[in-house]
Amino acid sequence: MCGIVGYLGNNQATPVLLSKLRCLEYRGYDSAGVAVIEGDRLNIIKSAGKLSNLETLLQQERPSSTIGIGHTRWATHGSPTNENAHPHTDSTGTFAVVHNGIIENYAQLRTELIEQGYVFTTETDTEVTVHLLSREYEKDQDILGAIIRTVNVMKGAFALGIVSLKHRDRIYAVNHHYSLTVGLGENESFLASDSTAVRQYTNKIVRLEQSEIAEIKTNSYRLFSFDGTEAFREPVSLNTEPYKIDKEGFKHFLLKEINEQPLVLRQTMSKYLPNFSSNPKAPISFNVERFSADSSEGVYGVKMTDNEIKSIKRIIIVACGTALNAGMVGKLVIEQLCSIPVEVEIASEIQTRNILADESTLVIAVSQSGETADTLAAMKAAKAKGAYTLGITNRPDSHLAQIASNLIVTECGIEVSVAATKTYVAQLMCFYLLAIYLGEKRGSISQDHAVEMKKTLHAMPALMEQILAREEEYKTLSLKLADASDVVFIARGVNYPTALEGALKLKELSYIHASGYAAGELKHGPIAVLDSAVPVITVLVPGKVYEKTLSNAQESRARNARMVAVAVDGDEMAPETFDHIFRIPPVEELFSPLVTIVPLQLMSYFVADYLGKDVDQPRNLAKSVTVE
Ligand code: AGP
Repeated sequence: MCGIVGYLGNNQATPVLLSKLRCLEYRGYDSAGVAVIEGDRLNIIKSAGKLSNLETLLQQERPSSTIGIGHTRWATHGSPTNENAHPHTDSTGTFAVVHNGIIENYAQLRTELIEQGYVFTTETDTEVTVHLLSREYEKDQDILGAIIRTVNVMKGAFALGIVSLKHRDRIYAVNHHYSLTVGLGENESFLASDSTAVRQYTNKIVRLEQSEIAEIKTNSYRLFSFDGTEAFREPVSLNTEPYKIDKEGFKHFLLKEINEQPLVLRQTMSKYLPNFSSNPKAPISFNVERFSADSSEGVYGVKMTDNEIKSIKRIIIVACGTALNAGMVGKLVIEQLCSIPVEVEIASEIQTRNILADESTLVIAVSQSGETADTLAAMKAAKAKGAYTLGITNRPDSHLAQIASNLIVTECGIEVSVAATKTYVAQLMCFYLLAIYLGEKRGSISQDHAVEMKKTLHAMPALMEQILAREEEYKTLSLKLADASDVVFIARGVNYPTALEGALKLKELSYIHASGYAAGELKHGPIAVLDSAVPVITVLVPGKVYEKTLSNAQESRARNARMVAVAVDGDEMAPETFDHIFRIPPVEELFSPLVTIVPLQLMSYFVADYLGKDVDQPRNLAKSVTVE
């Protein structure tokens, strides 16, 4: 979703701002802009559409300035037009503001400002900020005071970048339930809503805490709370390599990330199950570690004591989208191995309910980005009830990592493509490891059983490699489905979430309407949509639910649907029911979601690419969904 950047120093600002905006592109956006202080004016250059449009304007104008802010906007209030693109300015052209998030009371503030004579030129909620700043600054010419008074009347979660003609030596940044990172270089400073965009330039960072304001100058910075109290925090030097954003020869990031999945599983396992080959009986270790990439000097790992783990009576998993599907697999695995009741909740739904969580509840929030507003709100609401909290995220520098008491990090590296693939399988791996970990601690599984399961998990990356080697075969099959306008995915048990995730991937990437159903539900309504134009894709793995799933598929065949399956090699029953089969090597049912999703990811990719869709940045989607 929206991204904020800023620069001040001795170099030209716009090339730096543009390159930092490119780093944030993957978050999803539909317009972009910059504001630089050029001579005695604020020069605001912005455009709807891709960054290349902004780049063309910058090449034409060639603004000369060493201080500025920039933004990628994902439209919420007002369509993605040039006018609504950020930065926004006040009627005197003194302030420019970029904004992430939503100002929930903007309508009331806007009415109040209009009554006071302020003229609005955009449909955005952001514009109230710049008029409020202007109004407050008028009172005493104290810019910090004006910012403090402004943010204190705004409701919601937001981050701001501010420059002012009256104070040409500084940028202000405001963080209120968002993420913002300040980077400190040699005679230059940086600002970005994602530390990835700062790491390109410096490894010395200050992450803003919640409800904090930063005054950033070329060689210094100051931090203030919303009541004006100054805070003193040293910068942190990152010792990790900056993320590399490179397609490495693949046509798209998505295809690269699908192919990285075996590596991601290996990395995640070797982190939490080190030395397994030499000592298969070694316990899973979610040891607490210092995390140096975070200025809050946080720690991560599972910090609950054995007694606390034994005291858990209930688990609630909260997440959105793909992470929610991973959570559904997590539920089944934890229930099976630990005999703890687990509920999976759509984060946007649970947060406003009376959450029935208490001191014996563990709430697990799953989020690739760790910035998803709905997931964070659900986690905070559960935390307020006294529940234990555990975050599963790919971003140890995220907001989720700050608020969760326990943290498991998926070892994926950055995921650039908006559609989640490698982080999904890494989340699944974390759930398998967590379930075994909890099961061993609570005594619900034996050590021998745990060792067997760890062996199975260890074999998964190689199995996945065998599946990926069938890419060409899958491509041929996939293109047979490219003419469909509706696709139904069915499965049972542990692969029901695979059906949901398969449908989500196809929708996101190809814009073909797709729905996933528990196979047994098909006859209770969805079967009405079936005819010879509708492919029904069945995920079918030998095990507890095989026969019943096959029967449900046959019900579809009887309605002349186009029958497609993901089925294992050697399944001789499958050809009687299915016209097209994505074959995978035999796999144990409980762990099969780790690999059954792979042909479906590839299918969605091939169909979308064939249809000429924007595979890495599908229309309307954002990678970090930072508004509720
Ligand atoms: C995945 O392909 C989607 N882009 C989306 O459903 C995503 O999983 C969801 O928005 C949650 O994001 P998070 O994992 O960063 O919280």
